Amino acid sequence: IRAMFADGPLKGRHILVTSGPTHEPIDPVRYIANRSSGAQGTAIADALARLGARVTFVTGPAEVANPTGAQIVSVTTASEMLDAVQGALPADAAVFAAAVADWHVTSASDQKIKKGTDGLPHLTFAENDDILATVAQMKAGRPDLVVGFAAETQNVIENAKSKRLRKGCDWIVANDVSPGTGIMGGSENAVTLICEDDTEDWPRASKSDVAARLAQKISEALDK
Ligand code: CTP
Ligand code: CA
Repeated sequence: IRAMFADGPLKGRHILVTSGPTHEPIDPVRYIANRSSGAQGTAIADALARLGARVTFVTGPAEVANPTGAQIVSVTTASEMLDAVQGALPADAAVFAAAVADWHVTSASDQKIKKGTDGLPHLTFAENDDILATVAQMKAGRPDLVVGFAAETQNVIENAKSKRLRKGCDWIVANDVSPGTGIMGGSENAVTLICEDDTEDWPRASKSDVAARLAQKISEALDK
């Protein structure tokens, strides 16, 4: 399949894409997760491959099928995702579309927790490493272009702009994931692309149209 697209404008470029949710175990049969389907990240990987890029796709347990033109690295937890990302570098660009769990359960049990033995379970948490920030702040071997996402339910643009600065990524794709929008888990997206000195509102469109537009923009940026 890759040979079909091998001649596009991203020919010779390696691009890393993270996608999907992560699952953080509570015990062998239970986990903490989120509503990410992996649809937007998958569409981005496909769009980049269509432009000729060699794509490494690091994905948590997603609902949608994997992209066809990418090398797939499947992981479960945020910690595994960080290891997989570091193993996939170097890359010319990296797009962090995954909805990485912010915390893991430090009190995770090796055995299934049984009800009614010790009262209610009390979970304790620790924060996961920020994969995007780790890559964006690399001293050596940083991808030329690092793109993050900002999933927000309020003050979307303001929060996304400060996220871009805090993490040190070049661009951030802001989206409103409030329940009423139907974006998280849905087939459409409405985003604002925030670059260093320019902000673009993209009209609501299918996730594949948003992906195609982002892939085109990445291709132009790498050519500069
Ligand atoms: N991200 C990451 N590793 C994490 C958390 C987030 O790589 N441990 C990335 C996501 O893939 C996304 C960006 O950081 O590209 C922003 O994720 P988001 O959840 O919106 O931001 P957080 O910094 O986690 O802040 P919060 O959830 O509190 O809004
Ligand atoms: Ca988060």
